[in-house]
Amino acid sequence: MRKVLIILALLAITAQPAMATVGGGDITLQNKGGYVVFSHDLHVGGLDLTCQACHPKLYTTSKQHKTVTMKAMETGASCGACHNSTKAFAMKDNCIKCHTK
Ligand code: HEC
Ligand code: HEC
Ligand code: HEC
Repeated sequence: MRKVLIILALLAITAQPAMATVGGGDITLQNKGGYVVFSHDLHVGGLDLTCQACHPKLYTTSKQHKTVTMKAMETGASCGACHNSTKAFAMKDNCIKCHTK
């Protein structure tokens, strides 16, 4: 837990210099339903979520990504921790908001 946080902090620092990237930048999640681009800019910069809202409980890095299914997300895993129609728009009926291609 502590170790993961330290690694994340280091990654965040080393990922910064080139551009003013927010957190981990844009992350492309490839899957059978069409690529999903997760935007740190939108979630952190735009929505004011803290890093801890997602790290390290839900995510670490894309290299260590644990693939989840839509079924698992519909019951609260990954994006579904918030995209549950309470905190943010639901997984159901909003496919193209996330699966842009
Ligand atoms: C709404 C959720 C969310 C928030 C808030 C968030 N992140 Fe992330 N972060 C992600 C996801 C999703 C990934 C991709 C991890 C994966 O694929 O499993 C990620 C990955 C990363 C990575 C690794 C990038 C890579 O290419 O592997 C870093 C570094 C990172 N985040 C830093 C931050 C920092 C710093 C903050 C706060 C300023 C932050 N994140 C806030 C969801 C979030
Ligand atoms: C909040 C964003 C979001 C919404 C809304 C969403 N998805 Fe997804 N979906 C994802 C992400 C992210 C992944 C990849 C997960 C991973 O790799 O861990 C995924 C994966 C998938 C997969 C491959 C995994 C599996 O379960 O078979 C399919 C198919 C899929 N989505 C279809 C859909 C359909 C159909 C809808 C609408 C009913 C939908 N998605 C709505 C984000 C979303
Ligand atoms: C910690 C909570 C949280 C997590 C986890 C999270 N989101 Fe979000 N997301 C939000 C909130 C809050 C909004 C803004 C409210 C809304 O649009 O319903 C939002 C908005 C979005 C939007 C903007 C849609 C539009 O209106 O254009 C997209 C796309 C999105 N999220 C994708 C994702 C994907 C993909 C994941 C998983 C990889 C994810 N989010 C995980 C909280 C979260």
